[in-house]
Amino acid sequence: MNKKSPVSRSGRFQSGPAADVAQFTESISFDWRLWKHDIAGSIAHATMLKKIGVLKQNELSAIVKGLNQIHKEIATGKFQWKPELEDVHMNIEAELTKRVPAGAKLHTARSRNDQVALDMRLWLRDEITVLLGDIASLQRALVSLSEKNADVIIPGYTHLQRAQPVYLAHHLLAYVEMLERDCERLWDCHSRVNICPLGSGAIAGSTLPLDRALVAKLLGFVNASGQVQLTQNSMDAVSDRDFAVEFCAAGALLAVHLSRLAEDVILWAGAEFNFIKIADAYTTGSSLMPQKKNPDIAELARGKTGRVFGNLMSLLTLLKGLPMTYNRDLQEDKERLFDTADTVRATTRLMAAMLNNTKVNKSACAAAASDPALLATDLADYLVRKGMAFRPAHHVVGAVVALAEKTGKPLNQLTLAELQMVDKTFGRDALGVFNLKTAMAKRNLTGAPGTKEVAKQLARWREQLS
Ligand code: ARG
Repeated sequence: MNKKSPVSRSGRFQSGPAADVAQFTESISFDWRLWKHDIAGSIAHATMLKKIGVLKQNELSAIVKGLNQIHKEIATGKFQWKPELEDVHMNIEAELTKRVPAGAKLHTARSRNDQVALDMRLWLRDEITVLLGDIASLQRALVSLSEKNADVIIPGYTHLQRAQPVYLAHHLLAYVEMLERDCERLWDCHSRVNICPLGSGAIAGSTLPLDRALVAKLLGFVNASGQVQLTQNSMDAVSDRDFAVEFCAAGALLAVHLSRLAEDVILWAGAEFNFIKIADAYTTGSSLMPQKKNPDIAELARGKTGRVFGNLMSLLTLLKGLPMTYNRDLQEDKERLFDTADTVRATTRLMAAMLNNTKVNKSACAAAASDPALLATDLADYLVRKGMAFRPAHHVVGAVVALAEKTGKPLNQLTLAELQMVDKTFGRDALGVFNLKTAMAKRNLTGAPGTKEVAKQLARWREQLS
């Protein structure tokens, strides 16, 4: 394909790029996804060019009409993308100029360097907004599963060993908290994405009297108090990809949280735990073992963290040695950014759908939570209430546990005489410690899994997410 590109190469070059060069350098195969934002940016830029007298009203109208036509054709799959035109920016501009002569003025005081920075910021702004909605849906799924099983108690684990009893809701709400911090990070990232780079040109702005603020306003680059947000250094603006790194970092941490939740789901769905049952439609079978029902959504959620982490590392590596300002290396940013957004959005949505189709096996949870060893710490607290220092109390209860093991009895089946053999401080009321209901009612510190506190936290999240 030795054709001359109508947009950028005519003039300086005798020929177009060699076929293998074109193939190596093209980005249209992936950056076509920026088309909507590229068109929106061009319409804003053209509107501004009209205001400063570069375009006449009829030229602006023709350009806007042409761009809207192209918009429609792309949206309906009728637009012909041409790889020889390299990228989304040149494809759209070349097609416009073919239809509208004034299209040749559209690139006045604009470079693909500030254009691509603009398109990516616009694109990412939208992605973040949608992702925040997806995360809220997942939080709601966790809250409704909690509400439906508000009375369910399970063992809490450390080292994957039974530790202390918690409400299932408390366990699930831990993820709601993590996801909330993910939302905060994404919002914070959004505030730095939401800054308009257009007007930075290739590197050094323009000698023409552009109205940067107008473009920014038209494209919604304003902060919460309505102030227009403009990049303040043209060199930084065309080469900065911090905003993409930040998004990929926030996405990587979100992926960690999704993966941890997935791991709990996988464990709970297994016969050894048997705490939950995922609906058939949200599981898969085995090609060989007829009995299998596998939690593949959760496994893939766990597995996909690898690519999301990789995207972050790729972006960081891509940027680290770049001299100022724009270098073609930067074209490699898009697939990494797109992949993180696609992956975390899909994973978040599917995890929510799966949880909305999951039932809790209350009897299995009750059986696991009835293990009296979960309340060994409560027994030590009992001794503390009787005046014993915690360290010796811990030691005494350890000896009680050893005695229970030796006699082959559950902790709560030991007699008062046996307890007193270990330590005389134990009184008649000692065994009352093993009443699970009372034990849960006692855990009422802020953030603890007590009956009242969990109900309070559930109500807070229900309210906050509605
Ligand atoms: N396709 C390019 C990219 O994604 C657009 C900017 C090209 N600029 C340039 N000077 N070649 O980065």
